[in-house]
Amino acid sequence: MIASGDEWSDRVLTWFDQHGRSGLPWQSPRSPYRVWVSEIMLQQTGVATVIPYFERFMQALPDVQALAAAENDRLMALWSGLGYYARARNLHKAAKVIVEGFAGEFPQTVTGLQTLPGIGRSTAGAIVAQAFNHPAAILDGNVKRVLARHAGIAGWPGQASVLTQLWGVAEQRLAERRPADYAQAMMDLGALMCVRRNPNCKACPIGADCVARNDGLIESIPAAKPRKERPVRRQQFVIQRDESG
Ligand code: ADE
Repeated sequence: MIASGDEWSDRVLTWFDQHGRSGLPWQSPRSPYRVWVSEIMLQQTGVATVIPYFERFMQALPDVQALAAAENDRLMALWSGLGYYARARNLHKAAKVIVEGFAGEFPQTVTGLQTLPGIGRSTAGAIVAQAFNHPAAILDGNVKRVLARHAGIAGWPGQASVLTQLWGVAEQRLAERRPADYAQAMMDLGALMCVRRNPNCKACPIGADCVARNDGLIESIPAAKPRKERPVRRQQFVIQRDESG
């Protein structure tokens, strides 16, 4: 059975209410600016590391106007230690576009947000869902693992055809009810339950009809990046010796 619609999201949301991560600083208030900055920080950095950086950042630069007007050095000092500094440079560029091009208002659609530097399809979906509470698909590493296992999508998610299938499943299972919580719930399911090794299938709210679990494929889905074959090179030598060796 392929789960979809309300029945699927009800299971995910019921689990989230009991076990999901609540009280994260970007969850209240869930303003577009706070959600956006948090999602950029969370692209390559874990929640526990991000929290103090996020709180310092919000104190120093509380809105998109403050960020747009900030000196580069100030921004770099606030980001120092988080790594992947292109994220901070793109944040700065995007803030200037929002202030100068969009009168300080964030685009409210996935395609609108994707026009901004540093925002790809999944981050755009995470912002639409959490900041505007509209249904939008996300597909970060954790969500890919949950959906690939549940729907039994084999193959490496970095491969275009596999990724297309995963986006299809993500779109098909959007929640009409509580889209912001649903987005966070899917990420939490991947981070807390459906972990790569030894996932907690027994307690998983979507374990009963999970294809990977039922078919014994938890270890092989999602597939790892295929290793590049090492080229085999053959060479021949001719050694000539004279009488003296
Ligand atoms: N990774 C990306 N976005 C996240 C979020 N909102 N919560 C936890 N991890 C995330």
